[in-house]
Amino acid sequence: MAVNIFSSPREIYYGAGALKSVTNVLGKRVLVVTDSGVKAQGLLDRLEGILKGQGVDWAVFDRVEPDPSRESIGKILVQAQDFQPDLLIGLGGGSSIDAGKAAWVLYENPDWVGLSVPEVSQKMPQCVLRQKARYAAIPTTSGTGSEVTRTAVVTDSTKVPPFKGAWTAPQLVPDVAILDPELTVTMPPSVTANSGFDALCHAIECYVLTKPSDMIDSLALWSARTICEWLPKAVSNGKDLQIRERMHVAALQAGQAFTNGSLGLVHMLAHILGAEFHIPHGRAIAFVICPVFAYFYSTRRDRLVDLAKALGLSGADDETAVQALIDFLNKLKLEVGIPLSIKDSELREDQFVSGLKTQIQGFQARLSVLPPMMRSMLGVPDSMEEVQAILDHAWKGTTPALR
Ligand SMILES: [Fe+2]
Repeated sequence: MAVNIFSSPREIYYGAGALKSVTNVLGKRVLVVTDSGVKAQGLLDRLEGILKGQGVDWAVFDRVEPDPSRESIGKILVQAQDFQPDLLIGLGGGSSIDAGKAAWVLYENPDWVGLSVPEVSQKMPQCVLRQKARYAAIPTTSGTGSEVTRTAVVTDSTKVPPFKGAWTAPQLVPDVAILDPELTVTMPPSVTANSGFDALCHAIECYVLTKPSDMIDSLALWSARTICEWLPKAVSNGKDLQIRERMHVAALQAGQAFTNGSLGLVHMLAHILGAEFHIPHGRAIAFVICPVFAYFYSTRRDRLVDLAKALGLSGADDETAVQALIDFLNKLKLEVGIPLSIKDSELREDQFVSGLKTQIQGFQARLSVLPPMMRSMLGVPDSMEEVQAILDHAWKGTTPALR
């Protein structure tokens, strides 16, 4: 019997109008970290309208870029060091919430400011937080689950090839998450689809890779079922608050599942596609998930079959049940407007082939320092030829035969 830890924010406010709950968590000096899109949609104005009259000073960093780099985290840090907040608020999608979390790490651990992305990753077990500030996360997309996770993803764009590193520690789970579906109704259908597919992957990749656990499986399966049912509705009828709330809560539950369980190969390969080709994260996930699940058939068959059954997909035997799961995922992609293959996006084949070559070399180098047990937990193949074959299928939108 092992003792496990389940990390969660101390408070989760949810429901239409929950944004007002931010008044329950304010300190004296608030730094809001967000991006230009959130600002353009008027969502920052809404937050500032609530902050006015609360007797707090606040400052705003509104230039978070997609896939935030180490350099852009440095800019937020400079503002934090100058402003000295006692509360950071990440407002936006995963990039804004992660950028805020990463800046929070460096703000509280100033000795790490000159370190690279992997050097900080290694030091995260000693990470000190909450000596200067607390963290509140307010997502405006329903996908990453970053509002409840132990991780901030930071892109190291100084390396060749660039790669996405994870800064992870249990104490990095935000203090407060505020889920207000009213902030998600302006999300365009393509962002709804991509972020929803990311959330679905958090639930089902976690279920397939994590050891059976009542704490985690219940969250993973419930959120997976909810997303399968409600994502197409959210894409076609994004103004409906009830639909948006179902997706917002499900994305958080999927985040709680995977941050207390694990993710692996699907996310690792999606991070390669994101770092090299700037394919939006959820869309990259959608491209690789079916070929990876077909590969998992040889190593995680029981969990794949259980997952298919839990989603109401049956078959005469294991193979047909898992094939039904893969077919269902492909059908869901098309239903929400995600192409089946990378080649149907704007990327040229020669760009894909040459970019991938250096990325796979970098991937191999990073894997070489992982112990075999860790590689197995992540579901990573032994050979890079198999990794290449999975990505070839993702390019073509095909799935290898189950074996
Ligand atoms: Fe993800």
